[in-house]
Amino acid sequence: MFHVKSEMDYSAAHEGLVIGLFDKPEKFSGVLAKLDEQFEGQLTELVKSGDISAKLKSITKVHSFGKIGAKRIWFIGLGKEKEFNFDKLSEALGKGFKALKASKLGETAILLDTFTMDKVDGLDAAHAVSEAFALATYKYDGYKQKSNEPEKSLESITIYSPLLEQEDIKASLTVGYAFGKGTNSARTLVNTPGNLLTATDMANYAKDLAATYNFDLEILDKDEIEKLGMGAFLAVNQGSAEPPKMIVLKYQGKEEWQDVIGLVGKGITFDTGGYSIKTKAGIVGMKTDMGGAAAVLGAMEIIGELKSEQNVVAVIPSTDNMISGNAFKPDDVITSMSGKTIEVLNTDAEGRLVLADAVTYAKHHGAEYLVDVATLTGGIITALGMHTTGAMTNHEPLFEQVLEASMEAGEPMWLLPLFEKDKERVRDSKVADLNNSPGAAGHAIVAGAFIGEFAEGTPWVHLDIAGTSTSSKEYDLGPAGATGVMTRTLALFVERFEPIN
Ligand code: BES
Ligand code: MN
Ligand code: ZN
Repeated sequence: MFHVKSEMDYSAAHEGLVIGLFDKPEKFSGVLAKLDEQFEGQLTELVKSGDISAKLKSITKVHSFGKIGAKRIWFIGLGKEKEFNFDKLSEALGKGFKALKASKLGETAILLDTFTMDKVDGLDAAHAVSEAFALATYKYDGYKQKSNEPEKSLESITIYSPLLEQEDIKASLTVGYAFGKGTNSARTLVNTPGNLLTATDMANYAKDLAATYNFDLEILDKDEIEKLGMGAFLAVNQGSAEPPKMIVLKYQGKEEWQDVIGLVGKGITFDTGGYSIKTKAGIVGMKTDMGGAAAVLGAMEIIGELKSEQNVVAVIPSTDNMISGNAFKPDDVITSMSGKTIEVLNTDAEGRLVLADAVTYAKHHGAEYLVDVATLTGGIITALGMHTTGAMTNHEPLFEQVLEASMEAGEPMWLLPLFEKDKERVRDSKVADLNNSPGAAGHAIVAGAFIGEFAEGTPWVHLDIAGTSTSSKEYDLGPAGATGVMTRTLALFVERFEPIN
């Protein structure tokens, strides 16, 4: 896939040569100046006249007329150097790779150093290239009957970089590619319809992942879930013909099982709302209600691939939320694994119920730090829109580490408050310790507050991805549909994690 060469070979035959262009180079310097020499200064002229654009994310194709081995040069505009950063580079590359794919190029070369500046070095650029390539060219095939035309995809990318040791570049390419691939795995899980991804299917997926990366695997079936007293998780599954699965993956990257990070992902394979049933418009798309689980599984893939030096336990409660004569209903009181009782006011507030027992179980497995990820509330979409993940925490230093990873991964998040008054709303019930739906006001916040009751004193960050886990439109780094959001953030957070005293 990726080949690294230190010496630029202008005579090498490539289908395309990809070059980054900052605004406004009055005169080319360095490697671009040498390239321009092959063209007797004509490239500089084209830039001056505006025929080659340096505007951020613009793409200009120039025929080489045999002056160099590559058939065409693809200039990718990088905008102003002062405003440049890793995110912009990723998006510009993503757009570029989409264009290369659309032109059915099977092979291309990249002049890596034309994409670097003081804040984004060659290693960053190599990471961005492989990650953006994986992300931008991702496609979910679905289940349409195959057409006879085979799809041509970019299969070989030569990277020219005289500035850095080739091994360093290769390592960065491998890391970036792992991040892209893990995100794509999450996307595919989310895009898969509920009839083809049951809790049992998700458990089998985790089993394969465990076999590939040597994770410890525990899959609790219904009997075991009952024995452990996970009444909140079981209540959600009660109306279903599909058995629930509590999926646990353990990765031990340290000598001792300490400083354990617990990653908990909501794995509702389809959410009808239960007896608090969704509307016919609101129910469509609810196959994506396992986006949190997918992010956790995608992150575990990256963690396994990169052999992180951390200890991680991933816990995924998986079931659908269905209706039948057996289903749970409003007014029911259920007992969670923690012993806390819950009055059910809304069966559509099922995510917090399955997460309650999953959080308790992650602690049971030694998790000392918790991050839960969930397509939890429509309220988060009202509050923050489709581009920002909502966060809550009981521990600011832990949140700082998650936030830093999210900024670096280009997956923005925003912290919502967790005040005593909201905790009181969750604790307000005449018949139980908690209620699962204290009303519409600030409902993203009370949903998070509910989960916090089960984290108790353990440092915990909650991430609500109901708005960010899917995109209705195509974007530079992916197609419409599942985004795989938080996969990269979680993996980067784990990779960089520093225990907090
Ligand atoms: N899975 C939904 C949240 C959701 C909404 C995800 C839209 C993706 C897109 C969740 O289980 C839910 O139904 N939440 C309710 C909570 C309410 C009943 C308190 C909601 O947000 O309406
Ligand atoms: Mn629901
Ligand atoms: Zn749900």
